[in-house]
Amino acid sequence: MGWGLTNRIARMFPGKSGNSVMVAVDHGYFMGPTRNLESAGATIAPLLPYADAIALTRGILRTSVPPASTVPIVLRVSGGVTILKDDLSEETITTSMEEALRLNVSAVALSVFVGAPHEHQSLTNLAKLVDDGERHGMPVLAITAVGKELEKRDARYLALACRVAAELGAHLVKTYYCEGFSKVVEACPVPIVVAGGPKLATIEDAFALAHSAIAEGARGIDMGRNIWQSEHPVAMLKALRTIVHDAATVREAADAYQEEISVSLRPAATTAPRRRKV
Ligand code: 5RP
Repeated sequence: MGWGLTNRIARMFPGKSGNSVMVAVDHGYFMGPTRNLESAGATIAPLLPYADAIALTRGILRTSVPPASTVPIVLRVSGGVTILKDDLSEETITTSMEEALRLNVSAVALSVFVGAPHEHQSLTNLAKLVDDGERHGMPVLAITAVGKELEKRDARYLALACRVAAELGAHLVKTYYCEGFSKVVEACPVPIVVAGGPKLATIEDAFALAHSAIAEGARGIDMGRNIWQSEHPVAMLKALRTIVHDAATVREAADAYQEEISVSLRPAATTAPRRRKV
């Protein structure tokens, strides 16, 4: 890998842990105005200081992230189908490498739909994007999408999908956590980050997912709904950081979450001089 490509990856995996906490806000590219992401800029702004990278489309980047921001950007460059269709796999490359370079992003991302009607198209999209990325020092993150078939998230399927993505040259892979996840990691020669999926019942469930994924070899998370659909997104993100970067337990992360909420709710200390008794 060339210096530029390696440098771009290193910026997304900062600090001693070598892991990454990516915040995904790219859902609108096929789901439209997802709950709590209707006004993307308002959702993104408080999260930016605590994200190691942020995953989005060029439309949301241009309109909703200040250009002075230094947070590494993972730019989604695939799309072309919406949730209104039964088959979500007919994606094409929707954003050029030239545009990705102009936007100064740290990686480009696309979905691959292994086993779906348009498997071939999505996998050749990946192979071409990797060729293009290698030419320009741009890492490619492949997302093993399951469309509406959430039950596909088992170790056998995900190990196959992640391995195929890595064999075609993806530099990073995003997939789902599943039972037997260590087998998915073992069979994938490039770093894996995990998505959160639909919002889980409790914050502890989301912490447990992140904790198990890291313990079983993931190099980070690339999570959306379990952060910004939670009651306290910043507290959630900061607590997830303790798991990904500091090996915190689920209990410790839950304590960090509670502590963050109580600090943010504490009234600011008053600086007004006290009245003297007369
Ligand atoms: C949308 C995506 C999301 O980035 C990915 O699923 C992560 O978000 P969430 O944690 O909400 O699942 O790829 O297509």
